[in-house]
Amino acid sequence: MRRGPPELLKPLLKFESIKNDHFPYVDVSHSVGLYVEGLTVTFDGFRALDGFNLYVDDGELRCLIGANGAGKTTLMDVITGRTKPDSGEVYFGQNINLIGKTETEIAQLGIARKFQNPTVFEHQTVLSNLELALHGKRGIFDTLVGDFSSDDLDRINEVLAIIGLKDRIKSPAGSLSHGQKQWLEIGMLLSANPRLLLVDEPAAGMTRGEAERTAELLKDLAGDRTIIVIEHDMEFIRSIANKVTVMHQGQMLAEGSMTEIKKNPSVLEVYLGEEY
Ligand SMILES: Nc1ncnc2c1ncn2[C@@H]1O[C@H](COP(=O)(O)OP(=O)(O)OP(=O)(O)O)[C@@H](O)[C@H]1O
Ligand SMILES: [Mg+2]
Repeated sequence: MRRGPPELLKPLLKFESIKNDHFPYVDVSHSVGLYVEGLTVTFDGFRALDGFNLYVDDGELRCLIGANGAGKTTLMDVITGRTKPDSGEVYFGQNINLIGKTETEIAQLGIARKFQNPTVFEHQTVLSNLELALHGKRGIFDTLVGDFSSDDLDRINEVLAIIGLKDRIKSPAGSLSHGQKQWLEIGMLLSANPRLLLVDEPAAGMTRGEAERTAELLKDLAGDRTIIVIEHDMEFIRSIANKVTVMHQGQMLAEGSMTEIKKNPSVLEVYLGEEY
C-alpha cells in the first residue's frame, strides 16, 4: 500500500495550467488528491490515530467508517490544521504539505469542512446565508449593502440549484428542516468552490429521504472536487456505493467496496457485526 512520499513523484507536465485562480496551485497530475501516511496523534498517551495511512484520488468520493472513538473526526482535525499530529505526513495533492499550516492557511488552500451540526444563521434567509458565505472575505458590510457582481449572483444561483433550495431563498434558515439546513451549509461551503470537502456524519438526524438526497448530492459533487465523508449510517454508505475505508483504533483496518468490506472477517468482528 505504501506509495512513497509524493515529492518523489515527478510532475507529468512541468507547466500545467493553474485550474483555479483563487487557490494556490495543487499538483494532482498523478491523481493524488490527499495523501496521509503514518499519522499518529496522542492525547495524554492515548493513540487516537496510530500510524494511520490513507490515499485518496483526486475527485474521489471516499467513505470513512468505524466505531465510536476510531479516530475519524481526529483525522479531519489533523487535515484541517485543528490538531497537530505527533508524527506522519499529510499532503494535499502531491505538492502541498499540510503539516505545520494553520487552520486559516489550510482553508485558503481550498479545503472545506462540514461539522456534524448545521451552523447556519437561523434568522437570516437562505439567500443571505449564501451571500454571507460568498462574501466572508470581503466582510459583512458589502453583503448588507448588496454589493454583488453578476458573477456572484451566477455562483449563488448555481449553488442553489445544486442544493435544491431555489424555492426557499426568502425563507429564514431557521424555518428549514434539519436536512435542508445541512444542504444549506454544504451550499455555503460550495460558494468558495473548495477542492477538498470533508463531511462529518451528514446523515445524522436526517429522514431516510433526506439522507438519500444527501447521498445523491455528494455523488454529484465528487469528480469536480475530492470528498471524504464520515458516516455511521450504513444504508447511506451503501447508497453512495464508493470505496470505503474502515478505521479501527486509529488504524486503517480495511478498504474496498461495501461488498468487499461486508465480507471482511476482521471488519465483521470489530465493527459491522451480524446485522450487516
Ligand atoms: N481533544 C481531545 N482530547 C482528548 N481525547 C480526545 C480528543 N479528541 C478525541 N479524543 C479521543 O480520541 C479518540 C478518537 O476520537 P474521534 O473523535 O476521532 O473518534 P470518531 O471515530 O470520530 O468517533 P465517533 O464516531 O464517535 O464520532 C476517542 O477516544 C476520543 O475520546
Ligand atoms: Mg467523530
